[in-house]
Amino acid sequence: MCKANCFRGLYLTVLNIILFISPSIFSYAAEADTVTTTDNQDSLTHIINNQAGTHDDHNDYYQGNTHDEHHGFDLNMKKAERIFYGLYQQEGNTQSCASCHNTFAIDTFNWNPSALDIAKLYVNKTEDDLAGTLLNPTGKVTSKAHANYNFSEEQIQLLKGFLDKYSAEHESLPSKPNITQTLIFIGITLLFLLALVDLLFTKKVRLRALHLIIILFCLVYNTRVVVEEAIALGRQENYQPEQPIKFSHEIHVQQNNIDCRYCHSTVDFSKSASIPPANTCLNCHTLIREGSHSGAFEINKIHEAVESGQPIEWVKVHNLPDHVYFNHAQHVGAGNLDCADCHGVVEEMHEVRQVSDLSMGWCLDCHRTNEIQFTSNKYYAEFEKLHEDLKAGKIDKVTPEMVGATDCMKCHY
Ligand code: HEC
Ligand code: HEC
Ligand code: HEC
Ligand code: HEC
Ligand code: HEC
Ligand code: HEC
Repeated sequence: MCKANCFRGLYLTVLNIILFISPSIFSYAAEADTVTTTDNQDSLTHIINNQAGTHDDHNDYYQGNTHDEHHGFDLNMKKAERIFYGLYQQEGNTQSCASCHNTFAIDTFNWNPSALDIAKLYVNKTEDDLAGTLLNPTGKVTSKAHANYNFSEEQIQLLKGFLDKYSAEHESLPSKPNITQTLIFIGITLLFLLALVDLLFTKKVRLRALHLIIILFCLVYNTRVVVEEAIALGRQENYQPEQPIKFSHEIHVQQNNIDCRYCHSTVDFSKSASIPPANTCLNCHTLIREGSHSGAFEINKIHEAVESGQPIEWVKVHNLPDHVYFNHAQHVGAGNLDCADCHGVVEEMHEVRQVSDLSMGWCLDCHRTNEIQFTSNKYYAEFEKLHEDLKAGKIDKVTPEMVGATDCMKCHY
C-alpha cells in the first residue's frame, strides 16, 4: 500500500516544487527581455564573497578607513552595492544605476553604456570626475539620465570603489546565471516521466486529463528550451555581434540620409566593400559630439581611437570561408544588385545582423534565377550565341549561370 501512496506523494511533491519555482523562471525570462536589468543579488553576493585580488592599491578608501580591514571592507562594499542598486533611502533620485548600466550581458540592444563600460572608463578617473557626471552632469542625455542625484562625498567614494572593484573582477560582462533554468529543465523532465508512467502503468492518480495537461505542458516547455539552445549554437544566419562602438545604420542612413558609399566607398570597383576608418567618422563627429540616444559616451570612443592611433576593432559580421572567392564589384558594379538583395534592410538596423546564410546553395540559387543586364553590358559582348538566342526569343533572360557563374572555379580557388 505504501508503494501507491509514496508514488502519489512523490508526484505531488514534484508538482509542488515546479509550481513553487516557476514564478522565478518567468520573472527571469521577463527580465532578460528588457533592457533595464535590475539588481541581481546572487551575483553580487558572489562579487562580495569573492574578494581575491580586489584589495589592490587604488582601493585605498576601503583599506585606510577601517581598523578591521576585512570587516570594514565588507561593510563598505555592502553599502556601495546598495547605493549602486538604488536600495537606500534618501531625498531625490534613487534610481538604480543598473537599470541603465546593465551588469549582465543582454541580448537586446542597449544605448546606455554597460556597468563594465563605465567601470573601465573610470578606473583612470577620480572621484571628482564621478561626482561631476552624477551631481553636475553636462550634455542633454546625461543631464536627463543623472538628474537629481543627491549623493554625499562618502557615497561618491563608495560608488567609485564599487566601480573599481567591478572593473577589476570582470573582463567581460557576466551572463545571467541560469542554474535555475537547468534545474527547472530537469524537474520538468522528471515530472513528465512520472506523469507518463502513472498514466500508462501505475495509474495511481485517477484524473487522466491532469496527466495529459502536464505531459503536454512539459513537452512544449522543454522543446522550446532545446530549440532555443540549438539555434544559439549554430549562429551564422542572424549573427549579430556586439560592436565596440554603438554605430547605428538606422540613425546614419535612414534618419540622416547618408549614402552607403560615403562609408563603404570601394564597393563598386573592388572586391571588398571596406569599413571606413575613424577619420571618416570625424568628418562629422568633430562637430557632432553628442548623440540623442547615447550621449557623448559612444562618440568619445571615436576621438579616443584617433588620438591614440588605435584603430576601432569592428567585429566582422559576414564571414565566408577562405576557399570561397566573392567580389563586390562583380555584383554591385557589374551586376547592379542592391545591397539589400544580400544584406537585408541594413538601414533599419541599429546593430548589423547577418540576414542571408551565405551558403553555397544561397549563391547558386541566385545565379540560376537572377536576370543579368546582358544587352547593355559590353562585358558580355563575346557571348554571341546567347545574344542570338535572346533576339530569336529562344530564351527570355540571361542568368549568371548561362555565363558560367556556377562553374566551381569561379567561386573556389
Ligand atoms: C536613466 C539611465 C541612467 C541611470 C539610472 C544612470 N545612468 Fe549613468 N549614464 C547614462 C547614460 C545614457 C550615460 C552616457 C551619457 C554620456 O556619457 O554622455 C551615462 C554615463 C555614465 C558614466 C560615464 C560618464 C562619462 O564620463 O562618460 C558614469 C560613470 C555613470 N553614468 C555612472 C552612473 C552611476 C554611478 C549611476 C547610479 C548612481 C548612473 N550612472 C545611473 C544613463 C544612466
Ligand atoms: C556613416 C558610415 C556608414 C554608412 C553611411 C553605412 N555604413 Fe555600413 N558600416 C559602417 C561601419 C562603421 C560598419 C562596421 C560596424 C558594424 O558592423 O556596425 C559597417 C558595417 C556594415 C556591414 C557589415 C559588414 C560586416 O562586418 O560583415 C554591412 C553589410 C553594411 N555596413 C552595409 C551598409 C549598407 C547597405 C549601407 C547603406 C544602406 C551602409 N552600410 C551605410 C559604416 C557605414
Ligand atoms: C556624414 C556625417 C556622419 C558621419 C560620416 C558619421 N556620423 Fe555618426 N552621426 C551623424 C549624425 C547626424 C548623428 C545624429 C546625432 C544626433 O543624435 O543628434 C550621428 C550619431 C552618431 C552616434 C550617436 C547615436 C545616438 O543617437 O546616440 C554615434 C555613436 C555615431 N554617430 C558614430 C559614428 C561612427 C562610429 C562613424 C564612423 C564610422 C560615424 N558616426 C560617422 C553623422 C555622421
Ligand atoms: C551578391 C550579394 C551581395 C551584395 C549585392 C552586396 N554584398 Fe556586401 N557582402 C556580401 C558577402 C557574401 C560578404 C562577405 C564577404 C567575405 O567574407 O569575404 C559581404 C561583406 C560586406 C561587408 C564587409 C566588408 C567586406 O567587404 O568583406 C560590407 C561592409 C558590405 N558587404 C557592404 C555592402 C554594401 C554597402 C553593398 C551595396 C552597395 C553590398 N555589400 C552588396 C554579399 C553582398
Ligand atoms: C542576389 C543574387 C546573387 C547572389 C546571392 C550571389 N550572386 Fe554572384 N552573381 C550574381 C549576378 C547577377 C552575377 C553576374 C554579374 C555580372 O553582371 O557580371 C554574379 C556573378 C558572380 C561571379 C562572376 C561570374 C563570372 O562569370 O564572372 C562570381 C564569382 C560570383 N557571382 C560569386 C558569388 C558567390 C561566391 C556568392 C555567394 C557567397 C554569390 N555570387 C552570390 C548574383 C548573385
Ligand atoms: C556561386 C559560387 C559557388 C560556386 C559556383 C560553387 N561553390 Fe562551392 N561553395 C560556395 C560557398 C559560398 C561555400 C561555403 C559554404 C559554407 O560556408 O557553408 C562553398 C563550399 C563548398 C565546399 C565545402 C563544403 C561546405 O559545405 O563547406 C565544397 C566541397 C564545394 N563548395 C564544392 C563545390 C563544387 C564541386 C562546385 C562546382 C560544382 C562548387 N562548389 C561551386 C560557393 C560556390
